[in-house]
Amino acid sequence: MFVVADTTALQSKTELYAELVRQTEALLIGEPDMIANMANLSSLLWAVLPDINWVGFYINRSTNEKNELVLGPFHGKPACVRIDFRRGVCGHCATTRETVLVDDVEAFPGHIACDSASRSEIVLPILVDDHLVAVLDIDSPLHARFDHDDQQGLEHVIEIFVRHTRLT
Ligand code: SME
Repeated sequence: MFVVADTTALQSKTELYAELVRQTEALLIGEPDMIANMANLSSLLWAVLPDINWVGFYINRSTNEKNELVLGPFHGKPACVRIDFRRGVCGHCATTRETVLVDDVEAFPGHIACDSASRSEIVLPILVDDHLVAVLDIDSPLHARFDHDDQQGLEHVIEIFVRHTRLT
């Protein structure tokens, strides 16, 4: 059985992400199912990352008619289900395929407010070769909660997720 290690005593983001990377590897090893791994990874991130109020995945469900993301496994309050690529921080990430850091969600044009407590947000793309599989979205009730250390640490976590999970 996997037990989430206590990270409350860790002082720096470097230590926190080193531990998160170790736990992600241990959690996902040997399991290729995408939904199971998204569910467990969102649970782990929820348990380990301080000062967040939502964490989860939006899966790329684009068709020939429409480019859109659909809500996947998450922790936090119920959220909007479908996000057009032209809308919100998640849509911006899906379109640019780059990580988006938003210090103040109210200043981001078209931000979609799922929880009025959210103040800042990070959204990272999950890519396999040239294909966008999903985005990982994390919200915080604090202004400017996420920085480039978070981005780097979370990109490492996503690399582990992609390596263990069957995504094609
Ligand atoms: N804020 C996101 C929508 C998803 S919720 O935060 C869970 C956005 O603007 O795309």
